[in-house]
Amino acid sequence: MTPGGGCASGAVIREWSNRVVAEYASSAYAAEYAGLLLRAGASPDLVETALHVAQDELRHARRSAEVHAVAGGTQLPDVEPDALRLPASSELLDDLIMATVRVFCFSETIAVRLFRLLRSGATVPIAIDVLDEILRDEPTHAALG
Ligand SMILES: [Fe+2]
Ligand SMILES: [Fe+2]
Repeated sequence: MTPGGGCASGAVIREWSNRVVAEYASSAYAAEYAGLLLRAGASPDLVETALHVAQDELRHARRSAEVHAVAGGTQLPDVEPDALRLPASSELLDDLIMATVRVFCFSETIAVRLFRLLRSGATVPIAIDVLDEILRDEPTHAALG
C-alpha cells in the first residue's frame, strides 16, 4: 500500500480482509463467552470485561474495514453464521473452559505477537493508527485467559 493508501498489493488487501473477518469473529466469540459467564454465575466484573472485549473487537473489525477500503479493497467475504459460534457441548463448565483456553489463552495471546509483527512493517498512516489501536486493546483480551 502506498503511504496515501490505494494501489495496495493483492496480498495486503487480502490480509486486511482476513483481519476484518477475524475481528468480527472475535467479537462474536467474546459476546458468546459473556453469555457463558453469566450462565455460570461469574462475577459481574468478569462479564463486563468480556462484553468490553466484544465491543473492542467490533470496533477493530470496523477500523480494519476502513484500512481494507483505503488499500483498494472493494468487497469483504460473507461469513458463515456457524463460523461465529463457539463449540458447544451439553456441559456449561466444559464449554467455558474450552472457550477460555481456545479464545483467550491461545488466539488472543497469539494475536498480540501477530499485530506487533504487522505493526513493525506498516508504513501507511491509517494502517499504523489502526494497528496501534488494536495493540492497545489486545493485552486486556489476552488477560481474560
Ligand atoms: Fe481485535
Ligand atoms: Fe482481541
